[in-house]
Order: sequence, then structure tokens, then C-alpha cells
Amino acid sequence: MLPFKSLISSHQLTPDTVATIFESAHKMQTAIESKGRVGSLENAIVALLFFEPSSRTMLSFQSAAQRLNAGTIFAQNATSTSFEKGESLEDLIRIVAGYSDIIVMRHAQPGSAQMAADCSDVPFINAGDGGNEHPTQALIDAFTIEKHIGRLDNLKIVFGFDSLQSRSIHSLTRLLSQYPNNEFSFMGPSELAPPPAMISELEAAGVRCTQIKGLPDKLDYDVVYVNRLQEERFADKSIFDKHRRFYRLSYDMVAATQALILDPLPRIDEIDVTADDLPNAVYFQQASYGVPVRMALLSLMLSN
Ligand code: NCD
Repeated sequence: MLPFKSLISSHQLTPDTVATIFESAHKMQTAIESKGRVGSLENAIVALLFFEPSSRTMLSFQSAAQRLNAGTIFAQNATSTSFEKGESLEDLIRIVAGYSDIIVMRHAQPGSAQMAADCSDVPFINAGDGGNEHPTQALIDAFTIEKHIGRLDNLKIVFGFDSLQSRSIHSLTRLLSQYPNNEFSFMGPSELAPPPAMISELEAAGVRCTQIKGLPDKLDYDVVYVNRLQEERFADKSIFDKHRRFYRLSYDMVAATQALILDPLPRIDEIDVTADDLPNAVYFQQASYGVPVRMALLSLMLSN
């Protein structure tokens, strides 16, 4: 049982809820390894609405649904739906709720997830609403940290390089702020520092926050979490062009630290490919946890 019908924000992912989801995700992972499919959702239809580009999120939700033997229905971009004819998001969601048992949606508009959940009769999952939140990515990131480090508290984490616009950073910091004694640093260009409201919220939750201009000399942290500069969200593209090549973890930087290196991917410039085979570069493993974590979430939300 989960204490919510729809998942919109990492605010809802309290330590108890996270523990419930991870317990199920571990079972899902074992089941995938031994028999591939876990036929527990034969009678369910999962609607996947992806109105912004996606590879990992869309494919891992699809894989998760199929490993649970659920059916899927799918709309991939605004031009293939009646949005093109001027239909509102509210109307579309009402219709899709009549065709499915749970809706997963990615949309470019911050706040669209809440709006859609409010008019859906079936459970709803936010798969990214613009630069706002991406709570299922935060679950995968936290699952990776717990698997590799063994805890979600007492962590020193540095985030980069676009804490202003990265919904993955927003959601992960919000989730981890609910655990005691975490300390966050934010590295990157000053134009892309975290929104002041986010820092106030994290500090109010008890997180010590510091901001680092440029790249730190030493990556003396438990976790280094980087995400590409969010090119599609820049009002002024010259800021993106100015910083994209400078903000990059080199082979030497990754090799010189014990920190776990995470990236929600896609990787653009933020990590040099030569670092990929280093033992602490676990971002491809992190992406693989998308399937068991999303299987757990779908199955728990549909058994509510
Ligand atoms: C992230 C996203 O879409 O916000 N990707 C993902 O879901 N794995 C990160 C990104 O696009 O940079």
C-alpha cells in the first residue's frame, strides 16, 4: 500500500514510502533475473503519454509494464494527438483515464502533472513536468545510492551542472532532504545555481547547502551527481554555448575520487566517455534500475 493515489512530487516520497517501494523493487529485480516476467498485472492497461522527448523513462516504463504482463497504450508527441486540433490537456486526460488503469505522463509545462492528476479518475505518475520535477528518476537515483553505499542519510553530495533547470536534481534533493544529516553542494555556472526557493526549502528541512562557483579542485564527496545543461530550457542559448564544454568530469577527476558518480542521462558533455569504465562510474547501472523500480511503483500503485 502507498499513501497516495498519484505521484506528482518527491515531497510524497517519505522514508517509509521509499522503503516500501525499494523492498518491492528488490523482489522485482530478483524476479527479472530468474524468470524475466512477473505476471501480476495481467488485467491492467498502462497509458504512456510522452509529450517531451524520452528514451530511458519511456522505454523502462514500457519494459516494466510488459514484465508485469500489463498492456500498454501510447501517445508519443503532441502532434500525434488531438492537441494538434486544440484539445485541452484536461479533456485528453479524462479520455485516457477511460481507456486505462494508470497514466504515466511527461509534458513540457511545469505544473502540468498536478493539473492532469486532478482530472484523472485513475492513478497518475509524473514522468517529468518541464523543469519542475521527475520523482521516479529520484527513486532510481536513491535506489542506486542505497545499493552502492548502503544508506540515504549522512551523505555528502555535490550536484552539477544545471541545478536551476534540472528536474532530476530538484526531485532527488527533495527526496533526500527527508533523511537526516545530508549535506549538499551545488557546482556550476552562477547563472545556473539552484533556485533560491529550493535552497530555502532544503535548509528548512535541515540540509546544509553550499554553492561552489566553477569546478571544485577535489571531489571529496560520497556522491557526485551530474546532469547535462538542459539545452531545451534556456531562454538565452548563449549561456548554454558558453558553459557546455567547460563543465565536464574528466577521466582524471573521476579516477581521483572514491565518490559514486551518477547521471540520470542522457550524457551530452558532462562526463568524458573515457571515465565510463572506472568502477565508481555507475550511471549505466543506475539506468538499468529504472525497470525494477518502475515495476514496483506500478504494481504498488495499482494494488492500492
Ligand atoms: C532526465 C530528464 O528527462 O529530466 N532524463 C531521464 O529521464 N533519464 C535528465 C535529462 O534529460 O537531462
